[in-house]
Amino acid sequence: MPKDGYDLVVVANRLPVDISKDDDGEISWKRSPGGLVTALEPVMQKADGAWVGWSGGPGLEVDPFDADEMRLVPVTLSAEEIEKYYEGFSNDTLWPLYHDVIAPPAYHRQWWDAYRRVNQRFADAAAAQAAEGAIVWVHDYQLQLVPKMLRDQRPDLRIGFFDHIPFPPLELFQQLPWRRSVIDGLLGADLVGFQRAGDASNFIRAVRRLTDHTTRGPIITMPDPNGKPGRHVRAAAFPISIDSAHFDELARTPDVQARSQQIRDDLGNPEVIMLGVDRLDYTKGIRHRIKAYGEILADGRLDVEHATLIQVASPSRENVGAYQELREHVEGLAGRINGEYGEIGHSAIHYMHHSYPPEEMAALYLAADVMLVTSLRDGMNLVAKEYVAARSDDRGVLVLSEFTGAADELSSGALLVNPHDIDGMKDAIVAAAQMDRREQRRRMRKLRRRVLNDDVSKWSDSFLGVLTAMPSRTDHV
Ligand code: F6P
Repeated sequence: MPKDGYDLVVVANRLPVDISKDDDGEISWKRSPGGLVTALEPVMQKADGAWVGWSGGPGLEVDPFDADEMRLVPVTLSAEEIEKYYEGFSNDTLWPLYHDVIAPPAYHRQWWDAYRRVNQRFADAAAAQAAEGAIVWVHDYQLQLVPKMLRDQRPDLRIGFFDHIPFPPLELFQQLPWRRSVIDGLLGADLVGFQRAGDASNFIRAVRRLTDHTTRGPIITMPDPNGKPGRHVRAAAFPISIDSAHFDELARTPDVQARSQQIRDDLGNPEVIMLGVDRLDYTKGIRHRIKAYGEILADGRLDVEHATLIQVASPSRENVGAYQELREHVEGLAGRINGEYGEIGHSAIHYMHHSYPPEEMAALYLAADVMLVTSLRDGMNLVAKEYVAARSDDRGVLVLSEFTGAADELSSGALLVNPHDIDGMKDAIVAAAQMDRREQRRRMRKLRRRVLNDDVSKWSDSFLGVLTAMPSRTDHV
């Protein structure tokens, strides 16, 4: 650790590595591929950065260590804290509440207590690592109280927060019994970033309604200890992206191209391959998509000899009841549709409950004539951007839900759908399957210009640029 700490500290629920401990207590780690680490690694290395995150297992205690020129600082959570803070408050209260209550949020005081306790632990760990005047960048809904907890201890810090998921409309957010504490927690930051302009305005509206602070456009003025106007908090949209150039290159490699051809051959070279790639989450609209696809087969608008759907559903949050129910539903539905319409050598749906490495994902994207992203609500949806980045052949059609953050940026090249409107979605899927090559190229070029230009390094540079340019704490007090 440098003498007085690190100049940039990232705080996120997960570390950018998976840590494991063998029977002799020996610790090893493996890099976990993720957008956030790709975006932040270069800045972290340049700025002498530390990353604070959960060690990943129940009661797993690991001392801080260096990996890929970053300091990693694991935070230990007990099995009970994982149940109440992570599975409970984060993923069974906030997650459904922030995603339009697609599943009913559960409000339990014990979960809230654990959330507060764990947020305090992350804040303490970050405060211990940060140099005088350092930048601390806190991420996502699991850690919304950290900005204020940090500021209370370390008023010298410049604090940013980025919300990776939607911020709900006031009418829903108001349900949360601890709504004021969450708003106060976030207002500990100097800059609060969101995926979409709509999320930032939902947040500002909640601040106006639930506090007495004055707001002007994107700026919230906090009172100083004497009740006079004090420091400013800015709330704005910074849509996240992917490492587009890297994905583009990966999809051009001979191995990936060969694998993509092999996938098509293994499927019997159908005319149309449709693809869905999601965490198995009720926000992703997987059931709506499969239902629409089943009806298209029933109507005879597509048939299994000429078309097939690959659905990759990677395992997620498997201890949470709503996720267990969803798995039953999706697998039941896929099984029924295959039973009804499948033929020997021609499955209607190829359903895979696995995660795959980026090489295999790139090959799947290249093999897919139509990409189906039909989320009921989604902060951004990076799968849509990966599909576009992989298609340097300018082929393929993106069917994209208007309820994704990505739709704000990709509306002019994608076929936008409302996943609740099954008939409308069926028409869009059939139109995508029948789209001629010229129209595909015209649309894909527009999409690619956008995705290749607005990549993840632009996202992190612009967030950190705005945060760094904000007046420092001492300018206000
Ligand atoms: O989209 C929000 C998010 O927390 C992502 O940052 C993360 O990749 C994803 O959900 C998976 O969540 P979990 O950490 O619960 O597996």
